[in-house]
Amino acid sequence: MTGSLTGKTLVLGVTGGIAAYKSVELLRLLRTAGARVRVVMTRSATRFVGPTTFEALSGEPVWIEMFEARSDAAMRHIDWAQRCDAVVVAPATANILGKLANGIADDPLSTLLLAATCPVMLCPAMNTHMFRHPAVVRNLARLEADGHRILAPDSGDLACGTVGPGRLPDPGVIFDRIRALLAPKDYRGRRMLVTAGPTREMLDPVRFLSNPSSGRMGFAVARAAEHRGAAVTLVSGPSTLTDPVNVATVRVTTAREMAEAVWQHAADVDIVVKTAAVSDYRPGSPATQKIKKEAGDMALILTRNPDILMELGRRKQTGQVLVGFAAETENLDGYAAGKLKQKNLDLIVANRIGAVGAGFEVDTNVVSLFYRDGRREDLESMSKNDLAHLLLDRIANLPSGV
Ligand SMILES: Cc1cc2nc3c(=O)[nH]c(=O)nc-3n(C[C@H](O)[C@H](O)[C@H](O)COP(=O)(O)O)c2cc1C
Repeated sequence: MTGSLTGKTLVLGVTGGIAAYKSVELLRLLRTAGARVRVVMTRSATRFVGPTTFEALSGEPVWIEMFEARSDAAMRHIDWAQRCDAVVVAPATANILGKLANGIADDPLSTLLLAATCPVMLCPAMNTHMFRHPAVVRNLARLEADGHRILAPDSGDLACGTVGPGRLPDPGVIFDRIRALLAPKDYRGRRMLVTAGPTREMLDPVRFLSNPSSGRMGFAVARAAEHRGAAVTLVSGPSTLTDPVNVATVRVTTAREMAEAVWQHAADVDIVVKTAAVSDYRPGSPATQKIKKEAGDMALILTRNPDILMELGRRKQTGQVLVGFAAETENLDGYAAGKLKQKNLDLIVANRIGAVGAGFEVDTNVVSLFYRDGRREDLESMSKNDLAHLLLDRIANLPSGV
């Protein structure tokens, strides 16, 4: 399946920096996603984290010594380098950068790096003064010119007590960049707008009407499209998820703010994917002070919010692809097919709410796809990430798609 790491083989190089402990979590993320990972550690790295941890998590022997006695073939540096989809060095010390920039091969990792013809991603992590040293700056420029990907370190408090660039990004970010590295680039040159999350309509300063949408589906679509080369804008209602890397993320609260942000971008994109669960109504006259409870019941007057999807359909330009989501608890086929026509959509993704592993606040989804030409496709339960890639595959095949 597009975007999946199942069936991919990676080499994870770990060098001798304090951040070596983060590569344990990176390895776990890669393995959970289905990748085969072979770990190569420098001798210094083993002073920070024991090879047993990497061995247990990868399920493979960890390579540390060039000339150790082994049962497999002696040419491991060639074999491992050639039989993998990418090599990732995290953390990458100043030392390994210097060695690779200058073609030095004096241990398993530096030797394997010279034999690799697949993409190589280096994740430098070191003290700020080391990172800014002209020799390191020069080496990084050389490595980039040689075609290696460099993941810039984060800035902040470093273990050595200095403040500045040099911190290894979180394992989740490195994992995300590995996915991007391995994804096909079939959306390069395409511009996409994605909406996500719930909206919130205030009743008074401390209460609101909303729904349990977490934003996961929309964030997964935005991330997958970015991985595949699209220029993505994500408009999200309140969500605890962090902004996807390289995605222009606009945070909004109410349906009217979401509509405003959508109008600002919709005319400039090729594809709109609207996963947001927008409140259809808002309180007619929100109270300026906290509403106090009284003896009797209370009636709420609600006002209609703008129908963003309907308006997007009305404004749709020739060649633009419009994809909507529907969460229905009954009569899925009737509502979804009706919405598709009424709102001028090319594809509607209907959430089978109530199905096991579907809907809000879970990592999986169970959906049916309804196409403009009347076709219907029922999909199995799958992760929101896999579904995001599958949708991009389907959008690319639409008559007006990529
Ligand atoms: C406690 C400690 C922390 C270190 N952290 C780093 C680091 O974050 N980045 C770095 O480039 N070097 C760091 N070093 C220095 C490297 O371990 C040293 O340069 C070593 O030769 C690197 O070997 P390698 O690149 O083969 O792993 C650290 C050393 C010590 C003792």
